Amino acid sequence: MALSLKGRDFLALVDYTPQEVRYLIDLAIELKAKQKAGEVYQPLKGKTLGMIFEKSSTRTRVSFEVGMYQLGGHALFLSRNDLQIGRGETVWDTAQVMSRYLDGIMIRTYAHRTVVELARGATIPVINGLTDLSHPCQALADYQTILEHKGRLEGLKIAYVGDGNNMVHSLMMGAAKVGMHMSVASPEGYEPDEDVIRQTKEHAAETGSQLHICRDPREAVENADIIYTDVWASMGFEAEQKDRERAFADYQVDENLVAHAKKDYLFLHCLPAHRGEEVSEGVIDGKNSIVFDQAENRLHAQKAIMAAIM
Ligand code: CP
Ligand code: NVA
Repeated sequence: MALSLKGRDFLALVDYTPQEVRYLIDLAIELKAKQKAGEVYQPLKGKTLGMIFEKSSTRTRVSFEVGMYQLGGHALFLSRNDLQIGRGETVWDTAQVMSRYLDGIMIRTYAHRTVVELARGATIPVINGLTDLSHPCQALADYQTILEHKGRLEGLKIAYVGDGNNMVHSLMMGAAKVGMHMSVASPEGYEPDEDVIRQTKEHAAETGSQLHICRDPREAVENADIIYTDVWASMGFEAEQKDRERAFADYQVDENLVAHAKKDYLFLHCLPAHRGEEVSEGVIDGKNSIVFDQAENRLHAQKAIMAAIM
């Protein structure tokens, strides 16, 4: 199905219909096949993406830069320290100015409102490369990965064990959009955001997807097709590391926990991972883990986003 997403921002999966999300996943798979076949596909020739990073990154930075190159365009890396934003220029003015030079902006930052403000000020598409609230590029790549390995998405069950953070927020909305069921287990005080839960449930009704929030990791993982976890202390929360280690002590995804999932379950993690904390070495390096296929798909999924909106 050919859909036009040209000119749109990619800030959150909630802004995309189930059909649009599926279109992007299918396009990612198509662009991946082209690249593997050595086919040159350069719809973004002559275009430039600005990439603002206020937090560290390995995957996001490299995959956006390489992706833009493969699509025929150019990517500019801009750290906070390189920009006048770091010296107090407003996000709005930055957006206005950048729109005069660039064809798209990817931003990784702390407050989600910064991304929203940037998108309001910009006349070019803005892509959310992670905020404290969400990480939609990762979730899109994750559902692509699941589809490639399982051959379908609708009706599968994904279990997330751990911190109610940016990652689980985008995964929840993604599950609602692709028609997967999701269970989330987090310790007290670290649950996903209530507004995101409410919004996810509203959208889940559209596809028949179900969202279950609980405390017990075993309950979440029971009969799951996919098990997902993420770090206990996300970027910006490093000072809480010790408190979090205590709070999450019973939330490690290890061999005992995964025994409650389906035999052919798949393990996913957005990475970077901390072996021995949120996941045991045996699970992340085991035969059910597909974390590096997942990391690779950041490239293909983001190429799909850029090719579609820029
Ligand atoms: N998963 C992810 O976004 O990784 P980076 O922080 O390395 O970009
Ligand atoms: N939740 C993690 C994801 C990193 C890709 C963080 O925000 O640090």
